[in-house]
Amino acid sequence: ELEKELVIAIDGPAGAGKSTVARIIADKLGYVYIDTGAMYRALTLKALNNNIALESEKELSKLAHNTDIRLAKQGENNIVLLDNKNVTTEIRSNQVSNNVSLVAKVAQVREEMVSLQRQMAKSGKVVMDGRDIGTVVLPNADVKIFLTASVEERSERRYQELISKGEEVDLEQIKTEIIRRDEIDQNREVSPLVEAEDAIRVDTTKLDINQVVQNIISICQEV
Ligand code: DC
Repeated sequence: ELEKELVIAIDGPAGAGKSTVARIIADKLGYVYIDTGAMYRALTLKALNNNIALESEKELSKLAHNTDIRLAKQGENNIVLLDNKNVTTEIRSNQVSNNVSLVAKVAQVREEMVSLQRQMAKSGKVVMDGRDIGTVVLPNADVKIFLTASVEERSERRYQELISKGEEVDLEQIKTEIIRRDEIDQNREVSPLVEAEDAIRVDTTKLDINQVVQNIISICQEV
C-alpha cells in the first residue's frame, strides 16, 4: 500500500489504543507488529511467579538477563513466548498491569529489552508500540506517532476490556491505577514516557479505532 518501506513508532500512555491501532496498521500494510509492552509484561509475570522482590533492581536485572522473551506469530495471532511458554493471555491480568511499571523502570531491564527490540526492527517494515520507541529505541523511525486520550476515556476503555474478559473491576479503581501507572512511567529516571520532538500527536479521545487507523495511514502515505 505504501510506496516506501517504513519503520513506524507509536508511543503514548496506557489505554490510548496503541496496541489495537498498531496491530491493525501492521496487518493492513503487511508489516511486523512489535508490542514492547508485552515484553515488560512477560518479565513481570516471571518475577511475580518466582516471588522476586519487585523493589530489587539487582534481582530484576539478573532475571531479565536470564529470560528468553520472544514475540511470534501463531497463524493470525501475535503471541508472547516466555522461556518458550505461551503467556499471551496471562500477561494481560490486572496483577501484571499493576506491577509492570516497577519492572519497566529498572535501567538494566530496559537495556536488555531495548537491544532485543532494535534487533527485531532491523529488517524494517515494522510497527512498534511502547513508551520510548520514538525517543530511545528507534530515534530514526520514519514515522513517530504519539497517541493520547483523556484519563477518563482511557480508564473507560480499560474497564470495558477487563469486564469483557470476565474480571471483576471497579471503574474508579481502574482510573486510580492508570493515573498511578502514568505517574511512574512519566517520572522514571530512565527513558520516561515523553513525546518525541518530531512526533505527531493524535488524540483518540473522540475518535473510533477506524478513524485513528486512517489518520495514521494518511500520515504514513505522506512520508
Ligand atoms: O503498553 P502496555 O500497557 O502493555 O505496557 C506495560 C508497561 O510497560 C507500562 O506500564 C509501561 C511499560 N513500557 C515501557 O516502559 N516501555 C515500553 N516501550 C513499553 C512499555
